[in-house]
Amino acid sequence: MKKALVTSLLLLPFVILTEPGFSNSNNDIIAAKVSTLLEKMTLDEKIGQMVQVSSAEEQIPSEIKENIRKGQIGSILNQVNVETTNELQRLAVEESRLGIPLIMARDVIHGFRTIFPIPLAQAATWNPAIVKKGARVAAVEAASVGIRWTFAPMIDISRDPRWGRIAESFGEDPYLSSILGAAMVEGFQGDDLSKPDAIAACAKHFAGYGAAEGGRDYNSTFLSENLLRNVYLPPFKAAADAGAATFMSSFNDNDGIPATGSKFLLRTILRDEWGFEGFVVSDWSSITEMVNHGFCADEREAAFKAANAGVNMEMVSSSYREHLKDWVESGELPIAVIDEAVKHVLRVKFELGLFESPYTDASKFPALVNEAHLKTAKEAAVQSIVMLKNDNILPLSKDVGKVAVIGSLANDKVEQLGTWIFDGRPEDTRTALSAIQELIGKSKVNFTVGTENSRSKDKSGFSAAIEAVKNSDVVLLFLGEEAILSGEAHSRADISLPGVQKELLHEISKVKKPIVLVLMAGRPVTFADLVEQVDAILYAWHPGTMGGPAIADILFGLESPSGKLPVTFPKHVGQIPLYYSHNNTGRPADANSWVSMDSVAVHARQFSDGSNSNYMDIGSMPLFPFGFGLSYTDFVYENLKLSSNKISMNEILEVSADVTNTGKIAAAEIVQLYTRDIAADITRPIKELKGFQRISLKPGEKQAVVFKLKADDLAFYNSRMEFVTEPGLFHVWIAKNSQEGLMAEFEIIE
Ligand code: BGC
Repeated sequence: MKKALVTSLLLLPFVILTEPGFSNSNNDIIAAKVSTLLEKMTLDEKIGQMVQVSSAEEQIPSEIKENIRKGQIGSILNQVNVETTNELQRLAVEESRLGIPLIMARDVIHGFRTIFPIPLAQAATWNPAIVKKGARVAAVEAASVGIRWTFAPMIDISRDPRWGRIAESFGEDPYLSSILGAAMVEGFQGDDLSKPDAIAACAKHFAGYGAAEGGRDYNSTFLSENLLRNVYLPPFKAAADAGAATFMSSFNDNDGIPATGSKFLLRTILRDEWGFEGFVVSDWSSITEMVNHGFCADEREAAFKAANAGVNMEMVSSSYREHLKDWVESGELPIAVIDEAVKHVLRVKFELGLFESPYTDASKFPALVNEAHLKTAKEAAVQSIVMLKNDNILPLSKDVGKVAVIGSLANDKVEQLGTWIFDGRPEDTRTALSAIQELIGKSKVNFTVGTENSRSKDKSGFSAAIEAVKNSDVVLLFLGEEAILSGEAHSRADISLPGVQKELLHEISKVKKPIVLVLMAGRPVTFADLVEQVDAILYAWHPGTMGGPAIADILFGLESPSGKLPVTFPKHVGQIPLYYSHNNTGRPADANSWVSMDSVAVHARQFSDGSNSNYMDIGSMPLFPFGFGLSYTDFVYENLKLSSNKISMNEILEVSADVTNTGKIAAAEIVQLYTRDIAADITRPIKELKGFQRISLKPGEKQAVVFKLKADDLAFYNSRMEFVTEPGLFHVWIAKNSQEGLMAEFEIIE
């Protein structure tokens, strides 16, 4: 039976499947294969395709083997031993009745063995090409052990740095996240999903998860449909348009409906509006957690609600396996719901070419962590580092004299890799300390940790640090947070530097040597009180395997910093949520009319001066705005031009400005385009990113940077949930960051 099926599949024109992309005829061929197969499947086998189990053991438990043979498992999660993935696949393909291959999944979030900067850092590159290249490297490495499906990109809009998972995101902005999310999908999937080194992407977590109340992971969200559609969904739409093969339903309940049970998200939006044809997997046990949510009385009901809502595969929990058959046999759940889910799963398996080539031949893949992969990882890390301050100290000359390198993060092979690095290995890591020593010579470096780790409260290492500083000409101080302080379930209420790191800086600053602060963290940490104590600040995030050489190259001027912040840095945790693209309000905050509480007289009667949307103690301004980042050169923006100051709905507006490198070195600049819709059916944000370009200029070189805007680019969901561009007045900026820039006006006419 199984043999006959394989043969009949091979008789179909297989060659078409290997062509890039999937044309309509490819789609039809796959649809036909799926239907033929579906007709042969029993209900148990169908439900089997909707089941994913986790098994990391090299010795696979016999129960799992047996269930694969029975066709009751569709996917295995977390197995990365290639012999074992092949053996599991053999059981499915050769020992199950219909020979349907498994799809092997793994969280390959920012690299497999070669670890790239955390996604938030990758977002700081504002470079879709490098994000795509990184995802390609990750895909090739993961596919070499049999992984054909990753749970990435994570494209949750993240406007709360307390949320540990901000590290996995592309930050706060829908446009930037859309561009980079799509690039990551393209990188993982390549130009043809059926190639052995292509892996299916998974757009997660659908949807709203990043808006967790209070930044506490897994928390409820309360996003209006409008906010969902205008801010939280665009990156998912972009991922669907880029061809993401799968989506993951998120843990959170939004406005009382868990995403995993939301027909509105999984059917109305994803299928009906966006025409998504891949499959939807739940998050880890997010189906049965609908009982905890209080949305289902028991797991039986949870299975029903999730299947009905459109979750096609259950990750890890077993409610589908245990209850779906019952629901169908009782006539309460139409078999069409099951058939539809299975069709989506099978489609992706066919697209991946798993029926034709189920096994992995590791010898056909390049070595893991090879030099080319490391080079790309370094390139990504270099571009992700953001310089936040530089009082004429950076770049350092190699003849700077003695350098004190202080801080455990300067030489920690684990922590710089960041969160979600199941397959990354510390032995591959190149730390900043070793890279600096290599660049300037070991004898010039005085290294000591100061504190054993970022959380330590033990000050016994301070004296050695101060001694090292005294014996040096410049201090490179590495502070931040360990990898484990960000990521899933690792939210923090206080996002300042943990442990006694601030005290360490304070003590070191008393020695009066120039200090370069290198911050390594999985989120924006708060450090407003430290800025004045140091001469320069590099924000290096968790930069991955090659983070060390990237940091060293920037410190010593082999590269100029070019990263820009993908998220607003608050001065104080109490300002959160703080993001550039907020509404104006009726009483907008104005830095100039801010009334500080220190200036208010004691016993002052109630008064309304300066009554605007502000905090009396800290104001409304961030420490560093979205889009901010300095360079070793200067870029001057001038001559903003619009092709017209009025365009009709079908015209294109060209907005351009001259950008000149007025400094002495060649460097890259990220030029940003923002707009504001001045009056609309619903209030619109004070600025929205609509475009960006990463340009490289030699000293003295000038470039006219041109952006093209269509009326559609200015569309938004109005109060009736119609996607419209309204005629009227707009402001437009070409800018270095979200807080400054050249501004002009234009009008859209009907
Ligand atoms: C996370 C997902 C992840 C999954 C599988 C869950 O806890 O929320 O992002 O893909 O586990 O590891």
